[in-house]
Amino acid sequence: MKKDIKEVIVTEKQIKDLCVKLGKQITLDYKDKENPILLGLLKGCIPFMSDLMKYIDLPVEVEFMDVKSYHGGISSSGDIKIRMDINTSVYNRDIIICEDIVDTGKTLDTVVRLLKHRGARSVEVVTLLDKPEGRLIPFTPKYIGITIPKVFVVGYGLDYNELYRNLPYVGILKERVYSK
Ligand code: PRP
Repeated sequence: MKKDIKEVIVTEKQIKDLCVKLGKQITLDYKDKENPILLGLLKGCIPFMSDLMKYIDLPVEVEFMDVKSYHGGISSSGDIKIRMDINTSVYNRDIIICEDIVDTGKTLDTVVRLLKHRGARSVEVVTLLDKPEGRLIPFTPKYIGITIPKVFVVGYGLDYNELYRNLPYVGILKERVYSK
């Protein structure tokens, strides 16, 4: 896998530091809320959510939805499919959606609107990576680990054709991998 990476742009150490920082911020902001739901959007959220949650020093419920927007390849389709819904009611609940990346903004816009429509009291987003130059619709996550340029990245949850998610860092994929 590593031979396919052109450049590491977020190291393991940086990721750890960002998880600590975001976890502390969320702990502070939600200290008076009753059992917020930490909602991971599968599959990209897995490493980030499992690391971040260790630094949220509050009782949180952990839930998942499986939402898909990139149907293979390197660009978002904008066609959002909910493949597995959350397993509990969000009515009157405070939701923190946990994401690996916000790119076009379409996935988060769709999910946030859906949860609000179902009566969530509040819905915020924590994302490890934000790629604002990729936006096709306006969307601003409340908690951002790091802002990245418009490059195709993999690792630490992010895939290319379902591979590379298990790299411990975020890196730019060599073009030869996806131009074949
Ligand atoms: C990725 C990522 C976000 C979404 C962001 O998921 O995890 O959910 O794309 O893109 P957007 O801002 O352009 O909507 P993907 O659909 O690739 O599914 P995955 O998490 O299973 O890899």
